[in-house]
Amino acid sequence: MADLSADLGFLRLRNPVLTASGTFGYGLEFAPYLDLNRLGGIVVKGLYYGPREGNPPPRLVETASGLINAIGLQGVGVEHFAADVLPELRKYDTAVFVNVCGADNEEYLRVIDFLEGQDGIAGYELNISCPNVKQNGACPALFPEATRLIVAAARARSRRPLIAKLSPNVTSIVDIARAAEDGGADALSLINTILALAVDLETRRPKLGNIFGGLSGPAVKPIALRMTYQVAKAVHIPVIGMGGIMNGADALEFMVSGARAVQVGTANFVEPGAALRIVEEMAAWCDAHGVARVSDIVGTLQA
Ligand SMILES: Cc1cc2nc3c(=O)[nH]c(=O)nc-3n(C[C@H](O)[C@H](O)[C@H](O)COP(=O)(O)O)c2cc1C
Repeated sequence: MADLSADLGFLRLRNPVLTASGTFGYGLEFAPYLDLNRLGGIVVKGLYYGPREGNPPPRLVETASGLINAIGLQGVGVEHFAADVLPELRKYDTAVFVNVCGADNEEYLRVIDFLEGQDGIAGYELNISCPNVKQNGACPALFPEATRLIVAAARARSRRPLIAKLSPNVTSIVDIARAAEDGGADALSLINTILALAVDLETRRPKLGNIFGGLSGPAVKPIALRMTYQVAKAVHIPVIGMGGIMNGADALEFMVSGARAVQVGTANFVEPGAALRIVEEMAAWCDAHGVARVSDIVGTLQA
């Protein structure tokens, strides 16, 4: 059996497959469908300090080879998460990352300050890239200096590893990636969703209550692969790739393009056990191709 472990530098994961934020609840909801202990890790739904209702419905639209969502970061808030969810999550032997949100820089820091006092968290994924909160998709990850500032502020407040989650809705993803690295990020994750619009022709209205939403799923994979490749070549910190991963081959394509680990998102909606199936398919591919350690294929794209 191939060695599937993934080395992020600050942490060694059992395997490279994490579940993507917002597509796997707080993890516990999926326990009936797969053994959480066999995942590389879980990134929980984005958390602000307090509870949030998110955007008005409709909030999800299916599209050709993808999904457009405008959930708007509905969540229970960190205090509820720490009191009711974390104690249950601690019973599992898997790396738990909290996707940290903020309406402004102060709120990101408040969330981190609170979570620093809680056990059972492997690190923070700083969600600076959600396109469905402000109506025009604005977020810090669209601007290098805003990215550097919030990452640096979060870095100064946290003893835990910090992953900056990047947005694809930019002209130069490499500029944003370098800014996050300069700010002190320990790793980068990409991509968040692509700003999108779905139209109901009969009513001539947007299909989503928020007008715009974020596109995910197989439709975005080639864009995500391109960005993973560009970013992994440009920075010295680990890259975690995602966008449209539906099977083991998709995940391995991200690793060949430079990702040290991957996240599985939309696939969880199609099949709640998808992340574990993907782990098994990666292992089978490695065995069939004489690859002893999956980490050996990272960044091996011959371009
Ligand atoms: C319904 C839904 C909710 C999401 N919520 C979050 C979130 O709370 N925080 C975040 O950083 N990304 C969120 N995302 C983005 C995913 O984590 C991921 O970056 C994106 O969907 C691309 O991966 P995929 O194509 O495998 O789904 C969400 C995506 C979907 C589809």
